[in-house]
Amino acid sequence: EVLDKVVLEPSMEKRMKSLAEATRNTQKNGAPFRHILFYGPPGTGKTLVAKQLALHSNMHYAIMSGGDVLPLRDGAVTAIHKMFQWANASQGGLILFIDEAEAFLKRRSDPTMGEEMRSALNALLYNTGTASKKFMLVLATNRPGDLDLAVADRVDEHLFFDLPGPEERERLFRLFFDKLITKADGHGKLEVAEEAQTDEVFQKIVEMTEGMSGRNLEKIVISAMGRAYGTNSATLTKEMLLDVVQLKVEQFETRQQMMAEQGKLGSFV
Ligand SMILES: Nc1ncnc2c1ncn2[C@@H]1O[C@H](COP(=O)(O)OP(=O)(O)O)[C@@H](O)[C@H]1O
Ligand SMILES: [Mg+2]
Repeated sequence: EVLDKVVLEPSMEKRMKSLAEATRNTQKNGAPFRHILFYGPPGTGKTLVAKQLALHSNMHYAIMSGGDVLPLRDGAVTAIHKMFQWANASQGGLILFIDEAEAFLKRRSDPTMGEEMRSALNALLYNTGTASKKFMLVLATNRPGDLDLAVADRVDEHLFFDLPGPEERERLFRLFFDKLITKADGHGKLEVAEEAQTDEVFQKIVEMTEGMSGRNLEKIVISAMGRAYGTNSATLTKEMLLDVVQLKVEQFETRQQMMAEQGKLGSFV
């Protein structure tokens, strides 16, 4: 199942499932693919979902990050053309996933954009001008406003990954808690005190972590795990767990504060 280890808000989950289904059907029927944009704050599951989508579609896929293109310098244009040549030669249709798309597909008017990146962007536009039966483009970005308008124009469907609400935070926290602690294998035994895993404790954590992303929540669980391993009994107590959450919340708030001062909030980064 595509969204097995993914927690999304219900209406978003529905859209994502129908997208996965539509992609499979498109491939079967040999119809043109729809190009997709995933956007939203960092750490909300865009990369995770794109990879899951690729893995579960029965299609071949290529994953690149926008940041990989810059170091290619004047080789970038050739690399992009080659990638599309390969895509167009494919039999079954494939998914081209460009993560951190803004690093490579930002507005041509952006003064920080070098000549090589501008040419690479043009190469992408050149290769995506008509609807394709060969490949599906999936772009992901934290900064949709930075994308070149012609790139935005290539996209048929936009999916917004929002920060998790209370219900999603609870599901995420339980997901990571199980995966990393209670159902984890491969590492030595970590005990969890009963009092640390009550609904009441989880509810408190949900309240404390408002504004946090899935990635932030996962990091909290990893810290709690580390803290428990640092004790003689390798036991996670309620006090320890809530203490770690409190510490992480404080760090998170400091970071938010710093970004607000740098005027970076609201642009998702
Ligand atoms: N919606 C989510 N469902 C499940 N796990 C998530 C979700 N959002 C974030 N995570 C966790 O955080 C990690 C980082 O998320 P990622 O997909 O890289 O975020 P983004 O690409 O939006 O910045 C994931 O690998 C996963 O472990
Ligand atoms: Mg990402």
